[in-house]
Amino acid sequence: MHVSTLTLKNFRNYENLTLDFCPGNNFITGQNGTGKTNIIEALAVLSQVKSFRNVPDTEIIQWGHEQYYCSAEVKDTQYQRFEIGCAKYGEIIKKKAKIDGKEEKKISDYFGKLVTVIFSPGDTILVYGSPDIRRRFFDGVISKIDTTYIDHLQEFRRILKNRNSLLKDIRDGSKDARDLDVWDQMFADSSSVIMARRSDTVERSMKLFQNAYASISGYEDIPLMRYRPSMKSFDKDALEVLLKKNRLRDIQSGTTTSGPQRDDFILESSDGRGFVYYASEGQVRMASVSLKITEMQLVETQKGVKPILLVDDIMSQLDERRRHNVVAFFQEENQIIFTMVDAARIWGSRKKEREFYIRENSRVEVKS
Ligand SMILES: Nc1ncnc2c1ncn2[C@@H]1O[C@H](COP(=O)(O)OP(=O)(O)OP(=O)(O)O)[C@@H](O)[C@H]1O
Ligand SMILES: [Mg+2]
Repeated sequence: MHVSTLTLKNFRNYENLTLDFCPGNNFITGQNGTGKTNIIEALAVLSQVKSFRNVPDTEIIQWGHEQYYCSAEVKDTQYQRFEIGCAKYGEIIKKKAKIDGKEEKKISDYFGKLVTVIFSPGDTILVYGSPDIRRRFFDGVISKIDTTYIDHLQEFRRILKNRNSLLKDIRDGSKDARDLDVWDQMFADSSSVIMARRSDTVERSMKLFQNAYASISGYEDIPLMRYRPSMKSFDKDALEVLLKKNRLRDIQSGTTTSGPQRDDFILESSDGRGFVYYASEGQVRMASVSLKITEMQLVETQKGVKPILLVDDIMSQLDERRRHNVVAFFQEENQIIFTMVDAARIWGSRKKEREFYIRENSRVEVKS
């Protein structure tokens, strides 16, 4: 699978831009702040409906405008054309997603068809950030492999929201605690599906992650990856019992105090020391790149497609040996879109195939 053409209209600093990518390596170069990451962001939006930068769509619309549009022509796959349009009407944001001209209203019908893996300097937050960042990462990986998981997650969030609002009503005396029974049952059913998928994914990831970390770092001390569920069982009956046990606490705090919404995934040494507490900055960076390589390999083996790799300037953060070790994981068949200040800095990759140089006025020159 590869993107042949990307079109942007009023997307960040690009009023009108069309780029023709080659199926192999594409290097987007230019000075700081010229709009390299914005191109990666557009491809991420087309692939995942939202930006990986964790910003609202209003920030993406070009300043002084009311809407943006982006599209990708894709080759070697079942679907050829992906489009996302977003418009703001005062406070209201409307977003449309189309595949081959047909509007997809459900996110799970759009997601997972233009398959990308994004490598970004901000990935280190996967290691030292809060548990919700890791949950989002693993949920994203599972969703790429199996889009029905998105529906499960949405259902889980709906149940959690309802249960939490009922807990507040019970605390305030406007509802009866017995009303919780039905929500506990739904919460337990939904949680057991989510927990089982998360546990299964971490299990499948463990070897891939360790292998990537060992190859990139060359270190002996390779961290283990563990799923840390907030409830100790995946069995729905056992989960219901746990919910009953926590009921009083949940009512008092007006929120569901344990469940998949409190899960975590951790990295630790073989003798149980938390990686984040002893790792150097370079080790954190290598662990975060290894997590992304794990995602890439999981998607490839479970879904049977070679994802498009969006590599946003991570090479400049690694020493030459590590850079070489990372690039060794990328295969001939992966289309790669690299951004970097200067393409000459890439080391050990396949031959350079196309370079785009962004000028300060947002004009793009094709250099080779
Ligand atoms: N909504 C917007 N409308 C217009 N321009 C924007 C908008 N949002 C961001 N920009 C411009 O995009 C620039 C940042 O682009 P981007 O992050 O892609 O730069 P970059 O080339 O990746 O830089 P670096 O090398 O520092 O990572 C900002 O300097 C800003 O001028
Ligand atoms: Mg950038």
